[in-house]
Amino acid sequence: MKKIRKAVFPVAGLGTRFLPATKALPKEMLTVVDRPVIQYVVDEAREAGIEHFIFVTGRNKTAIEDHFDVAVELYDTLSRRGKNEILERLKSMQPQPGETSYTRQQVPLGLGHAVWCARELVGNEPFALLLPDMIMQSEPGCMKQMVELYEETGGNVLAVEECDPSETHKYGIVGRGRDAHTGFEITSMVEKPKPEDAPSPFYINGRYILQPEIFSLLENQETGAGGEIQITDAMLRLHAEQPFYAHIYRGSTFDCGSPEGFIKANIALALKDETLRPNVASFMQDLLQKA
Ligand code: G1P
Repeated sequence: MKKIRKAVFPVAGLGTRFLPATKALPKEMLTVVDRPVIQYVVDEAREAGIEHFIFVTGRNKTAIEDHFDVAVELYDTLSRRGKNEILERLKSMQPQPGETSYTRQQVPLGLGHAVWCARELVGNEPFALLLPDMIMQSEPGCMKQMVELYEETGGNVLAVEECDPSETHKYGIVGRGRDAHTGFEITSMVEKPKPEDAPSPFYINGRYILQPEIFSLLENQETGAGGEIQITDAMLRLHAEQPFYAHIYRGSTFDCGSPEGFIKANIALALKDETLRPNVASFMQDLLQKA
């Protein structure tokens, strides 16, 4: 079985749910506690053993490349001022030379099209796909949990969670088959179904392990829900040839592409931070008492 070495991050999205904040700033660069959302997602991938980070970017997204680059003047200044702790932290978060690749999705044709744009960089090996809006908080991280399942099953693995049955129209939904390790065999997939058409309440939460055969299917994938080329539709076609497994994710998910999820992520992660927790917790208690 081939190891999962590469991860794709489709970061070309316009962030319309978060305007005006995202007019000039990529949504992936919004700050949760002390670092941009995309840093959490890259760290999750690295923890799962990923060695190469592939970003599918677009216009207005250069801040992401700058964030993962060496900041020579800043490092020099921090070093001269003796700010070694933060300097070491910055360096530890930074990918090594050659570990990142960037390509552009020139036209926003959908998530499936964005993933297809990474085909040459991924090549002929299975890969991880991490949607950058989602911060997952768990130990081990979501992708690491998935890799553990993948090492048992092979094939394709999707992380799923249960949603309220009234909310199936927001997600890709999978059908539940026989139990398998930490999840189940997937029997069907449908993108954003009405509640009455949903095969189960299990939704794809934005983390995938896919075989490279997905690319040739994406190449001629017709548009689906929302008039976009959907990864879910291509996965359904791949499912005719290869097994798909769902991993039932154990942990918290914050959809940082929306103000509500972003605020919840900030509160939850601030309360997890030892230095911030005491003051933030008492501040919140005061606020709630007054409310
Ligand atoms: C995308 C996927 C969908 C998945 C969701 C998770 O939808 O197409 O299958 O459930 O991410 O957030 P989007 O949120 O881009 O509409």
